[in-house]
Amino acid sequence: MSYDLIILGGGPAGYLAAERAGHAGLKVALIEERSLGGVCLNEGCIPTKTLLYSAKIHDGAKHGDKYGVTAEGLKIDHGTVMKRKDKVVKTLVSGVRTAMKANGVEVFQARGAIQGKNEEGYLVSAGEQILTGKKLLIAAGSSPAVPPIPGLKEGLERGYVLTSREILELKEPPRSLCVIGGGVIGLEFASYFTSIGTKVRVIEMLDHIAGENDPELVSLLQAEFEKRGVVFDLGAKVTAIEAGGVRYEKDGESRIAPADLVLLSIGRRANIRDIGLESINVFTQRGGVIVDDRMRTNQPGVYAAGDVTGYSMLAHTAYREAEAAVNDILGISDRMRYDAIPAVIYTNPELASVGETEGSAKGKGLPYKVVKLPMRFSGRYLAENEGGSGIMKLIVNEKTRQVLGVQALSNYASEFIVAAGTWIEAGMTLDRIKKIVFPHPTVSEILREAVFQYE
Ligand code: NAI
Repeated sequence: MSYDLIILGGGPAGYLAAERAGHAGLKVALIEERSLGGVCLNEGCIPTKTLLYSAKIHDGAKHGDKYGVTAEGLKIDHGTVMKRKDKVVKTLVSGVRTAMKANGVEVFQARGAIQGKNEEGYLVSAGEQILTGKKLLIAAGSSPAVPPIPGLKEGLERGYVLTSREILELKEPPRSLCVIGGGVIGLEFASYFTSIGTKVRVIEMLDHIAGENDPELVSLLQAEFEKRGVVFDLGAKVTAIEAGGVRYEKDGESRIAPADLVLLSIGRRANIRDIGLESINVFTQRGGVIVDDRMRTNQPGVYAAGDVTGYSMLAHTAYREAEAAVNDILGISDRMRYDAIPAVIYTNPELASVGETEGSAKGKGLPYKVVKLPMRFSGRYLAENEGGSGIMKLIVNEKTRQVLGVQALSNYASEFIVAAGTWIEAGMTLDRIKKIVFPHPTVSEILREAVFQYE
């Protein structure tokens, strides 16, 4: 069977590329061994957002007294939350299936691997079948990183240590959870499990949580977690997983964190093994497939997009990369850029960021100025966040007066960060932005306020 384009992997990069290419009239085969939608739909973005929404409703009711609302007999039922999560996932996965059908994409539910090349194109196996494609898009995604910590492999096998995949299948919440890694996954699960009454401890190797985010916002977020009872062990090195606990070193001392269950969330690795990259000699570096700004690999007609590039492991990055790849295949001029990709941690409050932080602007030697505002400057924020301590930062290039970045710790931050991304993407100056009308009252108005506060 021969195709214009074969796509390996049915996650956000794969299915969106298939949809776009199919829509443009290409004959497309999409190979996915598991469920369409990849990690994002099945065991990442969407299921976790479903869980976190239940937690948010629960927490809102629990602390409702300051808004004049009291709830008696309040309870969050993990089983019901999980059932709803399954329903949401099922609906979205079936939506992707419908989109494939509507765009004439042939879906192969099988393990795929590149097998080589002949004069007609690239050969790719889908289970027992061999497909031929003039072009090939590698969108094989990523998997949780598993470091060589003594006892970890056994813990994973025994089900005492879980990754983000297994924890989303838990029938009963644990009484205590030890999270290894205070990054995005660790914090989102810490947020949910704390809300449902689990005792959560986060062990993080660095001296701060939340990776490259602005340290000031991060320490406010950490304080919010601590108020809710989460314990953080920062600057801590995990040395072993033992029966009943995680052994770690901190301040030169060996300690044990007892836990019913352990979540391993120390990053993800691109799936570059066992997919036949070597059969056509596709180059990789630092654990990901090497691509240019049109998502082309070193082999003609072979593209890669999404987590498999090991670069910006976000579903929305994957979407844009997939579009850039398909556009190149279609002969439409397009270039992938990474300077306006929003990043969100969907905790309560949310931490959203786009473009440069103060730290990264400084590191790059950019001429920048910062406007920092308490979120209380927004009337809507004040109305909805009694005692809220959120802040936002606007980073501006002081030479060109263009926006370089925005960070916000606030409710709705995930929704309004796109406005700042648009300004960066379009290279807009503060004077141009001042003419944009924001709906009032909205939390997003904080952006407009910051622009006007710039001297
Ligand atoms: P991450 O890279 O965000 O965080 C991993 C954390 O683990 C880091 O803080 C790191 O210092 C720490 N760490 C590494 N080794 C350790 C060790 N041995 N002991 C203790 N701490 C250790 O990775 P995470 O949270 O696993 O997420 C993986 C990917 O999934 C990320 O690229 C993320 O962008 C993506 N993701 C995005 C989400 C979102 O956009 N809201 C949600 C969930 C995941």
